[in-house]
Amino acid sequence: MPSAIDKSDVQGLVRTAFNDMIEARFHAVEIIDVTSARAWLQSVLALVNNSVAPKEGGDPAQKERALQLAFSWSGLRKLGVPAGTADGFSLEFQSGMSGEANRSRRLGDVGGDAPEQWKWGGPNNVADLVVMIYKIDNLAAWETEVQGPLWSKAFREVTQPLDTSHLDNDIEPFGFKDGLSQPKVDWALSRKAKREEFDFGNLITAGEFLLGYPNEYNKLTERPTVAEKEDPNRILMPAEGAPGRRDFGLNGTYLVFRDLTQDVRGLWQFLDKQSAGDRDARLQLGALAVGRTTKGDPLVPLSEKPIAGIEPKEEKDNRFTYDSDPTGTRCPIGAHIRRANPRVADMPSDTKGFFKRALRLLGFGAPRPDDDLVSSVRFHRVLRRGREYGPELKPDDAVKQTTPDGIPRGLRFICLNANITRQFEFVQQAWSMGTKFAGLTEQSDPLLGNRTAINGCLTTATFTVPQDTGLARCIEGVPQFVSLRGGGYFFLPSIRALRYIASLP
Ligand code: HEM
Repeated sequence: MPSAIDKSDVQGLVRTAFNDMIEARFHAVEIIDVTSARAWLQSVLALVNNSVAPKEGGDPAQKERALQLAFSWSGLRKLGVPAGTADGFSLEFQSGMSGEANRSRRLGDVGGDAPEQWKWGGPNNVADLVVMIYKIDNLAAWETEVQGPLWSKAFREVTQPLDTSHLDNDIEPFGFKDGLSQPKVDWALSRKAKREEFDFGNLITAGEFLLGYPNEYNKLTERPTVAEKEDPNRILMPAEGAPGRRDFGLNGTYLVFRDLTQDVRGLWQFLDKQSAGDRDARLQLGALAVGRTTKGDPLVPLSEKPIAGIEPKEEKDNRFTYDSDPTGTRCPIGAHIRRANPRVADMPSDTKGFFKRALRLLGFGAPRPDDDLVSSVRFHRVLRRGREYGPELKPDDAVKQTTPDGIPRGLRFICLNANITRQFEFVQQAWSMGTKFAGLTEQSDPLLGNRTAINGCLTTATFTVPQDTGLARCIEGVPQFVSLRGGGYFFLPSIRALRYIASLP
């Protein structure tokens, strides 16, 4: 097992969301001419940013512009990646986000959000690769340089270029501060995950976000390798633990792309109606749906003890768990961020000590029947790397807007993870869409839910707001605010693997 991570071999998106580069555009393309596509890839290899920060000796040009490349299984196959690597690629990656009706159902991609309705990534317009271009300013010139003369011969865009916008202070289109909570990747490989952990921690093993390193189970996630003869120029590293094979997966990861639209007017007008036109009450209800105020403040008090992996500078935003709010009277149990990261350890926090633990394992001693319903979070973290698009529409203006302005707004949601099923899909299906999350009923994520009735649950359009009085406020008929317009599962290869793909005959 490697004793250190060679950051120069890892695409930069794993280290950073390139937030300083406020201009960005993504291209989802189909390869129409393999020879030109490979020649294009060779021509841009030197431009792809790695994960060495400029302050750690990285290329200073990387401060100003970035290029990142991720491939779907169809893209890799077209470019000649040997069929044998399929054994190491996860099945969900090979099948794709839209490849199976069952997957779509589990992810909540049904009805108007079904792949047949998508602008891209659905049947017959799956992207072979996404080309992600970032720049501090003057994006167009950099984009022209990246595309070069081969672009239009090599590729067909499966959708219009995916623009992004930069809203001040990292505000997402609904008007909430975003990008506050991320897992801290253990780049130093110092963390040895234990079999059971009793405290929520934010420092997560590198193997959860990069292939080739121990994950939170202290095991290696399965990864693709190629036979030695298929890498005659020895571009890839020898695959540890797999004699005679070279490591295609090492330092790569999976990239999940969900192209989401947001109905900003719809959200604020609904909240306004529920608040009888009172501005403060409306903002308060919005905060309860998200789990943070629009300014990003958590709704629960900060923990007294520090949390591993929370840096001092982000303590005021992130040093909290929901242990002090078991019934959700401060932050509703179904709030978006509480569902997306319930901040629980492997066992409830009061389970330290042999006897307490033994009692719990035998099923005794839970303070409430719903005390232990949420799966441990350290196995289900994702690194979010998305960008928003569309012009700002402030909540107060959204409330006043009599007819929709028809201007698209939303989030190009991107996340990175080593195991799509256990990480992104679990968060999306069990926690966000899960109608029985933490013992709740008839509801899904108040922001993300598609409100479609499912087997055994005729309505999923409720949002429960527990109150101090003991009686919960039940908000019924919550509309759909977020819709899916495209997406896919991609592989973000290491820099070596990119060179290997470009060198294939
Ligand atoms: C348009 C759709 C979405 C909007 C408007 C949205 C909005 C937000 C906001 C405002 C936050 C709080 C800021 C922060 O903690 O960084 C947040 C956090 C988060 N969101 Fe979303 N989000 C969206 C989609 C998604 C999706 C699709 C997922 C994954 C399935 C997701 C997973 C998360 C996670 C993991 C967090 C951090 C929670 C924590 O660690 O406390 N979000 N989101």
